[in-house]
Amino acid sequence: MLRRTLPTLRSVKDGVGDAHFPSLKGHPAARVNAREAAEGQARLAAAEATTVKEFQVYRWNPDSPPGRPFLQSYHVDLSSCGPMVLDVLQKIKSEQDPTLAFRRSCREGICGSCAMSIDGVNTVACLKPVEANTSRATMVTPLPHMFVVKDLVVDLTAFYQQYKSVEPWLKTKNPPLVPGRDREHAQSPAERKRLDGLYECILCACCSTACPSYWWNSEAFLGPAALLHAYRWVSDSRDDYATERIQALSEGWDKMYRCRMIKSCTATCPKSLDPAAAISAMKALHHLRKN
Ligand code: SF4
Ligand code: SF4
Ligand code: FES
Repeated sequence: MLRRTLPTLRSVKDGVGDAHFPSLKGHPAARVNAREAAEGQARLAAAEATTVKEFQVYRWNPDSPPGRPFLQSYHVDLSSCGPMVLDVLQKIKSEQDPTLAFRRSCREGICGSCAMSIDGVNTVACLKPVEANTSRATMVTPLPHMFVVKDLVVDLTAFYQQYKSVEPWLKTKNPPLVPGRDREHAQSPAERKRLDGLYECILCACCSTACPSYWWNSEAFLGPAALLHAYRWVSDSRDDYATERIQALSEGWDKMYRCRMIKSCTATCPKSLDPAAAISAMKALHHLRKN
């Protein structure tokens, strides 16, 4: 028996399910994921063959040397499991191996904590449908080019420091203009709309850890996630420091200009955001302000 109520295949394909799943609207990755999950579950329900699938999961424990990392195989019956890879990991942890370490919190693609590489693609495990083909193992590894704390948990200290370095908060020079509201900076609907595609970032780090420039220069290059957030504040009509923000990012060549427009960041973002376009827009602003 399938445990979780899923959008039907027809409702996902035709978009008629959007009323029940408003998050699918304008979110191509979520729509594809929902369709794949519904298709996979339909295939499994109809399957006469086995519903048990192999998952090869990266294991490394710093407390049990000599600790060479290895891939551990787990076999999971998909007919008694939720449709996403995070459901599989939860099932492994609760029924087979409580020592398996991974991060998760919301299980709805909101907190960004379950980011990992699944079959070589960075994504959040709670939004990634299990591939229904049971003859092929799914490989689950940590985000690439990061220091591993244990199993699928990576050290995000430098990533968060880079995020902090762009000062991701409202900075103003003038008091709010709304009379009687000394803490409220007004914004028109059109100005607010400019933040769409930027504010939704969940800081999962899928983009930065998919970026070859970030792999090779992560001490100096801020990476697409931090730069997307920088652009979010540059674009905010209430913020009075856009010029200074751009200036700070372009001081020294590495922070922003290490981006070579390879666009792996945009290709992998599980929230369908476009960090490459944000970086490109900031480079353009920098050149405009220089001339
Ligand atoms: S577009 Fe820039 S930030 Fe994105 S993956 Fe390419 S080099 Fe990295
Ligand atoms: S831009 Fe996308 S991939 Fe990058 S941190 Fe934000 S949500 Fe994650
Ligand atoms: S558990 Fe929060 S994004 Fe996956």
